[in-house]
Amino acid sequence: MQAWVIGNWKQNPATSHEAQALLNDLLVNDLLAPTEGRLTNTCQLMVAPSCIHLAAVSARLQETPILCAAQDISAHSDSTGAYTGDCSAQQIADAGATWTILGHSERRQYHKEPYDRLVQKMAFAFKQNLGVILCIGETQEQYDNEQTLSVLGEQLSVIPGVLESLRSTNVDTNNDTPNAPSIDNMTERLIIAYEPVWAIGTGKVPTVSEVSRTHEYIKQTLADYAAELTDISVLYGGSVNADNASSFAADPMIDGALVGGASLKAQSFLAIAEAFASAKA
Ligand code: 13P
Repeated sequence: MQAWVIGNWKQNPATSHEAQALLNDLLVNDLLAPTEGRLTNTCQLMVAPSCIHLAAVSARLQETPILCAAQDISAHSDSTGAYTGDCSAQQIADAGATWTILGHSERRQYHKEPYDRLVQKMAFAFKQNLGVILCIGETQEQYDNEQTLSVLGEQLSVIPGVLESLRSTNVDTNNDTPNAPSIDNMTERLIIAYEPVWAIGTGKVPTVSEVSRTHEYIKQTLADYAAELTDISVLYGGSVNADNASSFAADPMIDGALVGGASLKAQSFLAIAEAFASAKA
């Protein structure tokens, strides 16, 4: 299975000039060259810039092997409306992104975003033909109390609602847009990112076997929801860097990485991608 290495740039970098410089550093790299590129056959790269840089970054990434994602979308409308500060799925897609991160723990922590809002956001994303990287993960306290799997089970319980809404919208739209996300192509349009909150930006990481067991649980839970979700990719996120990437990549349950801090330097981001590309080759 192809690996995924996704850079979540969060609220970085400070200027569009710096965003372009980061892209320059990524794109001059031989690893990505269309013919002899070692990375892109086995590892799909993606970056998620902040909303203000999205259109310029995605324009720059056209005709390159790197995909572009947003970090969030509006829960209020998939299109337009009086929702100050929001960007809709349609606007994100129009800006050139083909994916969006949803449910990141920083949205929960700083914006008090409840999990059940994600059913609506995922439905909007799929309606506008955006793939979804859904983030789930437990807090330090929940980890200490050995509640990880029950917390993740609860977070994943948004999925049946999403499947239900996909089933009903597909009836209306699939004739016009045959490639629109449907239950049948979910393996190409949905990724789960397991990000323990306590590992994000802290330098602390769970052991590879803890992540592996957790991913096994996530995969089993998805398969129990629908047979079509059996092969969904599950990525690990939280303090992944050039030094620890190969140990995560070596585990068959870990299909890639969602990378924060280390994605802001081309060298470390590509080293992580190389670790996954060679482990999954
Ligand atoms: P760090 O890699 O900086 O820990 O961030 C992980 C993350 O939150 C990616 O979404």
